[in-house]
Amino acid sequence: MKDTKIVPTNPIKIQDNTFRDGHQSIYATRMRTEDMLPIAEEMDNCGFYAMEVWGGATFDTMHRFLQEDPWMRPKVLKKYITKTPFSMLIRGQNLVGYRHYADDVVRAFVDKSCEIGIDIFRCFDALNDYRNIETCVQRIKDNGKHFQGVLCYSLTDIRLGGDVYNLNYYVTKAKELEKMGADSICIKDMAGLLSPYDAYDLVSALKKEIKLPIHLHTHYTSGMASMSYLKAIEAGVDVVDTCLAPFALRTSMPAVEPLVATLTGTARASNLDLHKLLQLSEHLEEIAPKYNHHLANHKLSIIDNAVLAHQIPGGMISNLAGQLKEMKALHRLGEICDEVVRTRKDMGYPPLVTPVSQIIGAQAVLNVLFGRYVRVSNQLKDLVLGLYGKTPVPIDAELTRKLLKNYKRGQEPISGRPADQLAPEIEEARKTIGNLARTDEDLLGWILFPQTMEKYLHTKYPVDTTGKVSA
Ligand code: CO
Repeated sequence: MKDTKIVPTNPIKIQDNTFRDGHQSIYATRMRTEDMLPIAEEMDNCGFYAMEVWGGATFDTMHRFLQEDPWMRPKVLKKYITKTPFSMLIRGQNLVGYRHYADDVVRAFVDKSCEIGIDIFRCFDALNDYRNIETCVQRIKDNGKHFQGVLCYSLTDIRLGGDVYNLNYYVTKAKELEKMGADSICIKDMAGLLSPYDAYDLVSALKKEIKLPIHLHTHYTSGMASMSYLKAIEAGVDVVDTCLAPFALRTSMPAVEPLVATLTGTARASNLDLHKLLQLSEHLEEIAPKYNHHLANHKLSIIDNAVLAHQIPGGMISNLAGQLKEMKALHRLGEICDEVVRTRKDMGYPPLVTPVSQIIGAQAVLNVLFGRYVRVSNQLKDLVLGLYGKTPVPIDAELTRKLLKNYKRGQEPISGRPADQLAPEIEEARKTIGNLARTDEDLLGWILFPQTMEKYLHTKYPVDTTGKVSA
């Protein structure tokens, strides 16, 4: 019999997200650096394309809940992980915080991130308005690092298509990123909306029109993610994101082990050793139980059907439910989900990702409880004013006039880059914080999270009983 064994001609590359998005998605970002170290060297030997180790919510939770200096994690991991590039998630002008920061802060933050060992910057804007990543990108390129441009994946129906989020939208956006100097393009499906056949069509279209490597990031939330990876791989996607099994599935990413097993013996087999991965997962099984209390267990199903019904991210529904419970209005959740869909349409169909998802959700609650736009949050007015950037579809002119009437920050929407409205921040902040910030890292952290970082810095530099700050 002839040997029909297929040689992998185009091996799939795999990025490991266990140390960032994995525990952010299912363990509330609480994994400690010390728990990463025992497997760090072995992870480095696996042959991952990259490891995502920083960014997203890690900076916030590390200093707020774990009493760890957020800047230290990549530095420490770099001692154990010397071959595999480090990736981080960065929200353009938002960096890893919750508002737009001035350009001087963005430049300093990117410089520092390069210095502590970040190699690949996955850089996104919630509205896919790339003016909000310009400064960030310039600095990444100046430092000679990898700029991964992001398409935030969104839909207006259960499948790709319609007037807004169709193939043409994503191809056009990807071309913009290519022009900006992107080294790769990431499809970022933060809510797990991407269905398998759409994954196939989208990756095929991008591979045809774009020269850059295509990287796919999705979440298991709706239960489609493994199927979507398989179809994307058939369509020629270059890299996918996974986690080791104990940190995978649910609202996290697909697990690496079944994917490696699935592709074995095919043209797209990975170069990862399944047995090595299984050993690492076994080790994580010993660590994971102490984080188990962060795992959502309010229902039996580990997938979220609301994503399929309304394209509303799972996390957004649980936030809304929490808010409504406090207002003793939980029984109106169904109405509010319908109103989220309407409010989002009014606001020009923004992708439902932080911070826009919170703004739309809070307004939908107000609309249901008090009547549509009878009470309007300032954040929604800012969105209408253009301070978050340009929405995918322009907001109706009459509604704009109504919402901005007598608004103190402006009544005419701005058309320029939002960050052009912001004055430099660093020198002012240095004066305000004074000696409490001993390094530029302390100072930048404090600009991003003034209250919680101030508290953390007091722990980091305790004052002795004589009132002298100890060395
Ligand atoms: Co993610």
